[in-house]
Amino acid sequence: MNGDFSNIKACVFDAYGTLLDLNSAANSCNDELGDKAGALSEIWRAKQLQYTWLRSLMGKHADFRIVTENSLDYAMNALGLADNDLRSRLLSFFEVLTPYPEVKPMLGELRELGMKTAILSNGSPDMLKSATENAGIENLLDMVLSIEDVGIYKPDPKVYQLAVDRLNIAAENICFVSANGWDAAGGAAFGFQVAWINRTGAPSEHLEFKPKVELKDLSTLAQIILPV
Ligand code: LAC
Repeated sequence: MNGDFSNIKACVFDAYGTLLDLNSAANSCNDELGDKAGALSEIWRAKQLQYTWLRSLMGKHADFRIVTENSLDYAMNALGLADNDLRSRLLSFFEVLTPYPEVKPMLGELRELGMKTAILSNGSPDMLKSATENAGIENLLDMVLSIEDVGIYKPDPKVYQLAVDRLNIAAENICFVSANGWDAAGGAAFGFQVAWINRTGAPSEHLEFKPKVELKDLSTLAQIILPV
């Protein structure tokens, strides 16, 4: 896929897994987790997403911090880990996940080129504040938008509409950037031009809502979406 982006006025980023490395919380507890670190990260994230979808379908919203705690409890239980200190440490590290190395220069480049930049995330506003401050990117973003403003999780179209309304830019002029294949599909179904950041070499989603481009990381994003 080469991507044929046209007339992009803003880049809207997913946060978790796209700008922020979800494995960094479990990796920071490697000493305690040992060879369970990878499995813990994987189960925690899978269950976290399932709970967002379940709650949205049930009409029983709870914010992302609660979902993150509940899914960690599930993952620890699944792996036979019963340790309250470890639980607290993992949750604290989730508040300050490490950004991927190319994130800061990429955002700087987009801003220098006059592009608006925003986050649109399932994260609650305080979680996103702490994550963006810790990553040192809060000044490189025009807006940090949380689904808490619409009270339902991605991929409900109301979430993507939030970016259109707040930025006052039409969906077709927004490049939505996500490392989550299902979120990339959600953004494409909504009408964004989408860049899927496939960091793990995951297979493509078998849905008709396709990204315009698939990239290994964010380093070439600015070149791809802006006309030379
Ligand atoms: C987010 C999740 C989907 O940041 O990664 O919205």
